[in-house]
Amino acid sequence: MPKIRLAIIGCGGMGHRHMYGLVELHQLGWEHFDLVGVCDPVKANAESLARQVTEQLGISPTIVNHLDDLAALGVEAVDVTTTPRYHHTVAIETLERGWHTMVEKPMGLTVRACNMIRRASDASDAILSVAENYRRDPINRLAKALLDVAVIGDPRLLIHHTIGGSDQMMISVWRHLKNESGILLDVGVHFTDVMEYLLGDIETVYAQTRLHEKTRKNPTAGAANPAGVYGKWQTQMPAEFEATAEDAAYATLTFKNGAVGQYVEDHAGHGRVAWARQIYGSNGSMTLPSDRGGGNIILHLGGQEVIEDQKILDLVPDFQLDDITTKLFGGNRLWRYQFPFPETDRKIIAVEYADFAEAILGQHQVEVNAEQGTRSVAASYSMMESQKIGRLVTLEEVITEQVDSYQEEINDSLGI
Ligand SMILES: NC(=O)c1ccc[n+]([C@@H]2O[C@H](COP(=O)([O-])OP(=O)(O)OC[C@H]3O[C@@H](n4cnc5c(N)ncnc54)[C@H](O)[C@@H]3O)[C@@H](O)[C@H]2O)c1
Repeated sequence: MPKIRLAIIGCGGMGHRHMYGLVELHQLGWEHFDLVGVCDPVKANAESLARQVTEQLGISPTIVNHLDDLAALGVEAVDVTTTPRYHHTVAIETLERGWHTMVEKPMGLTVRACNMIRRASDASDAILSVAENYRRDPINRLAKALLDVAVIGDPRLLIHHTIGGSDQMMISVWRHLKNESGILLDVGVHFTDVMEYLLGDIETVYAQTRLHEKTRKNPTAGAANPAGVYGKWQTQMPAEFEATAEDAAYATLTFKNGAVGQYVEDHAGHGRVAWARQIYGSNGSMTLPSDRGGGNIILHLGGQEVIEDQKILDLVPDFQLDDITTKLFGGNRLWRYQFPFPETDRKIIAVEYADFAEAILGQHQVEVNAEQGTRSVAASYSMMESQKIGRLVTLEEVITEQVDSYQEEINDSLGI
């Protein structure tokens, strides 16, 4: 079977991490993609990615800085890992060119940008997939299977708490700038996607949001030997800078199924770091581990029975991971796993690529489509919109752009 000619557009941290995901697939002998091009206006970033492709895959993708040059390479599919401001400009153009397009989360920088991508996707024969990774964690798959067979009964309450971060820069400067993709969108969109994956549609949101830490600090500035995928860029970033995007949201959500969500996403938390994702139902509760951590789910059922080992699988006899996840993680019915974080990260990105390729090959629909990508962005912005107008908002109002005064400034800056 001929391979799908692929290019990665955006060769920063995630562009590199996506390529490591492709390497995971190649190590399994799964080679549906031929990475023929890497594209970035910053030549050094594209060169860095191309170098690593050559080291890891033994091929030499062409380095380009413009989409026209990708056309000359006969590209059929692209993976958009640019900063969020460019997701809609790039994805709309690639869809118009008929190239299958996988775009990183957040699908667009605003709901309007998402709606524009959605319309371009509807008008194109090409496939649009959103690279949302957290839901593809095998433990979130198990949680979904347990909820689907109503192990804890009817869900009544979801508690999601993430607290930490103090005044430190989260990966990069742009994640603290409202017009670039603030942290509540950048991280929050993962959580809104997971919440809808587990419990279905969010209907309403009431939130208080804050910008607590107006000056963020980058401890890696000027470091001689910075670590990690992002280190070489972080060392060039300022030691201190002004943050313009809110860094904390405290919200109450309602779901269509009647459940209520209590949501705390605080990236300015000092002191004790906190993580909680718990779902209480009419017959028990489920405590979930952090995403991509490999920890196990704890169930408390009916008369205080506690299940926190492999016996949890007896409750879902039909639970099966898909083929690729099974091969990557080494089991088709996992209740926990243990890999160093970069390896888990690569494996889950590999699952995204497999989903994208199988959809291109007509084997199934993409898992996270334009509609879901838009919903997750809208759910994140619902929190800022609710704060801005001082009332509960419906997700529908935000998706249809009837409520968008918080995003107005961002849309203006994008010229949309
Ligand atoms: N799913 C995850 O776990 C996860 C983790 C990190 C980042 N992300 C997402 O990945 C995307 C990229 O984040 P990052 O951390 O790699 O950012 P980054 O700043 O490290 O890299 C972004 C790259 O995009 C390039 N770029 C900007 N405009 C471009 C354009 N028009 N065409 C081509 N290249 C362009 C930049 O030059 C840079 O090299 C964001 O949407 C982010 O939210 C997802």
